[in-house]
Amino acid sequence: MHATDHTTLEALRRRARHQMRANVRHGYDRFYGCDYSYALPSRGRYQWQWFWDSCFHAIALSRIDVEMAKRELHTLLIPQRADGFLGHITFWGCGFPLRRMFGGQQRLREWRLRNTGMLQPPVLAQALLSVWRASGDDSFLAELLPKVRAWHDWLARERDALNDGLIGVISPYESGMDNSPAYDAALGLHRPGRRGLLFKNWLLDWHNSIRGRGHDYREALRRDRLVMIDPFMNAVYADGWDALSELHDHLGESELASSAASRSALTLNALNDQCWDESSARWLFLRGHERIPERTLTVASIFPLIIGGMDRERVSRVLEKQLLHPDHFWTTYPVPSVAASEPTFDPDGESTIWRGPVCLNLNWLLARGLRGHGFDDVAHKLESKSVAMASREFREFYSPLSGKGLRGLNFGWATIAVDMPTVSIIA
Ligand code: GLC
Repeated sequence: MHATDHTTLEALRRRARHQMRANVRHGYDRFYGCDYSYALPSRGRYQWQWFWDSCFHAIALSRIDVEMAKRELHTLLIPQRADGFLGHITFWGCGFPLRRMFGGQQRLREWRLRNTGMLQPPVLAQALLSVWRASGDDSFLAELLPKVRAWHDWLARERDALNDGLIGVISPYESGMDNSPAYDAALGLHRPGRRGLLFKNWLLDWHNSIRGRGHDYREALRRDRLVMIDPFMNAVYADGWDALSELHDHLGESELASSAASRSALTLNALNDQCWDESSARWLFLRGHERIPERTLTVASIFPLIIGGMDRERVSRVLEKQLLHPDHFWTTYPVPSVAASEPTFDPDGESTIWRGPVCLNLNWLLARGLRGHGFDDVAHKLESKSVAMASREFREFYSPLSGKGLRGLNFGWATIAVDMPTVSIIA
């Protein structure tokens, strides 16, 4: 490594630590009757604790302030319900009027709760794995692992209705990629603008809340208004089971470790059997009760390559035909959230999101998966570009053409660049 790289990376780590500490919110919550402490995603834009943001915060923090990483996960898990469920936003210390903005995202009968009734991508087990590896703290692991396992068991029980390994989402917001064009048709939209998307999602939230019996998946399937098998969600879910398997194994819980590994294999096989499209070398979304293929080419369509058990030959084909193809995903600053070849590709879009710009949390997951399959050179290129983008500023998104930062400022999950192996060499 050159001295300049070393200096750049040290500076990145310093800035990341400084920013995460500046983003901390802490206090006492009267409803839950306890203290909380978490980093908000972006000051002024996103105040609350978002589920997958927090998981990425913990991963980044495991490199720069491991005690803060532990607090982030502890706080995240406080609102977990007895059945294992954990909603996607927690409104710490927030009174009722402000929460009304998210009214439809809660279960009506639970309006007093400060946690929503929808979910976000399950990257919690990966976060626990990172924090445990960095801290080596087995008692922290023993305390949190049963909770993280309960969350995965909930997903398997409630969101895998056919018990075939594939979990479904009932709102684009649940996929974490809120305005992804893969959901346009399901929302009944064609080339939508910001208002159209907001309105349709708002209607859907209320539908799921009231007619959908409080965001109940089986009810959503029965009504068939919007149900999607999203390859990104399922890839992260399978990867999460693998992380759980490793953690259970470490604690000597061999039965739990092997059931987690079987769950991962089930999802992997279902993705390959039901979503794989041989001619284009990618995984398709499946829409509705009938599981109708949805062909919009977004980053979700290549995500199952991250799963450890995925056949390397298949991953290699996805790289050749998709990820490393300059017409699709290998832009000057990869990886765009929507393929450059898609008519909806909007590289610098800021009012509607997830329609082209790069997001560093996804690059982290992809690079890590690529390394797992031995594609270290591709992972290294992706990490170097990611570090270059984060070194300019920590932003919610970046332009895949120029690397320029977009939308949210001082963005928490962009600090994940400190956990790219290029950086950890100097850790
Ligand atoms: C946006 C993103 C979502 C994220 C949230 C907070 O809604 O689409 O994925 O969790 O902001 O950063």
